[in-house]
Amino acid sequence: GKVCLAYSGGLDTSIILAWLLEQGYEVVAFMADVGQEEDFEAAKEKALKIGATKYVCVDCKEDFVKDILFPAVQCNAVYEDIYLMGTSLARPIIAKAQIDVAEKEGCFAVSHGCTGKGNDQIRFELGFYALKPDVKVIAPWRLPEFFERFAGRKDLLDYAAEKGIPVAQTKAKPWSTDENQAHISYEAGILEDPNTTPPKDMWKLTVDPMDAPDQPQDLSIDFQRGLPVKVAYKCPKTGKDVSVTKPLDIFETVSKLARANGVGRIDIVEDRYINLKSRGCYEQAPLTVLRRAHVDLEGLTLDKEVRGLRDSFVTPNYSRLLYNGSYFSPECEYIRGMIQPSQETVNGTVRVRLYKGNVMVLGRFSETENLYDPTESSMDELTGFLPTDTTGFIAIQAIRIKKYGDAKRAKGEK
Ligand code: ARG
Ligand code: SIN
Repeated sequence: GKVCLAYSGGLDTSIILAWLLEQGYEVVAFMADVGQEEDFEAAKEKALKIGATKYVCVDCKEDFVKDILFPAVQCNAVYEDIYLMGTSLARPIIAKAQIDVAEKEGCFAVSHGCTGKGNDQIRFELGFYALKPDVKVIAPWRLPEFFERFAGRKDLLDYAAEKGIPVAQTKAKPWSTDENQAHISYEAGILEDPNTTPPKDMWKLTVDPMDAPDQPQDLSIDFQRGLPVKVAYKCPKTGKDVSVTKPLDIFETVSKLARANGVGRIDIVEDRYINLKSRGCYEQAPLTVLRRAHVDLEGLTLDKEVRGLRDSFVTPNYSRLLYNGSYFSPECEYIRGMIQPSQETVNGTVRVRLYKGNVMVLGRFSETENLYDPTESSMDELTGFLPTDTTGFIAIQAIRIKKYGDAKRAKGEK
């Protein structure tokens, strides 16, 4: 039968490709273009040379922005207060594209090179089973006949030599990465010691904030119903005013400017779904800017109580479900449906400044929303309600608080 393998062009998935052939399968090598820097031509040649029947690359960039990245911005998605989930967010799009290819090519099974200790195996496989419940999944790194045979890097290299698999001459980096247009991750290897500061040359997508331009980069971002619809900025090279409005252009423009100004590096220890802690470094430039601007605009345009409910329920649940690989699930469909209704009034423009790794908000305005009334909120005006009204408001709030205070005193507590 035919197997659709998520191929990366690297050593591991090349070995898996050769091994699947050795098991008697026919292999379709699948790649998703999610905006990673990659020599797709070289990967194609390599896959076909090893013996894949066919190579299929799917351009997922636009779907990724429209279906996943913008909705993530729209609900301020974030895991453990800091990780903007660049890898987690890409998985549903890749799983969907892989299943589409598997169906089109008549594959009975799909395969991937995820380790048995990570989140990605869960994300991919739950996605596969939701989209094609009868699919068979071959996860070699969880099969004893595979992981016992390829216990060390030397076993992989020996097998590569035996099968005539070209191994890149460049010395392997002492960590593993996962890249797409939203971010890059660095994990494992020397990073496993959480107190080892990564070397300066590890960071690949962003300029080191210490080397970033001395001139700040200002831009303005327009949102409609919480979705970015326009980005405008002055090009630092030509001095010309530029503006873009297509989702993919918006994302790529923000990405380019944010990366050039050193925005979005983080170094964290996170909790994986499988209950292991893991140290990871990430460059999440575009999402850092877009999320910050979106949160800011909500301050101006979103109802207080809607915001509170969304913050306490929708954002944490959506984020956790995405991180844990449950994008394709009834509970996630339910939560996803709550994002848009919270965003009807999130219309307006945020002006931000990018400067040496920082994102600063310069101002915000909305032509259509009027929740914020500067006169009403002013400390210098006696409009809207009377100061004496507040006396009653405090008195009512105090009924319960006084009882609490009395009880504490009665127990002799302060
Ligand atoms: N820890 C991050 C996450 O779970 C990044 C995973 C990176 N994946 C990889 N195959 N290198 O989202
Ligand atoms: C992997 O285990 O394949 C990468 C790390 C992860 O999925 O969390």
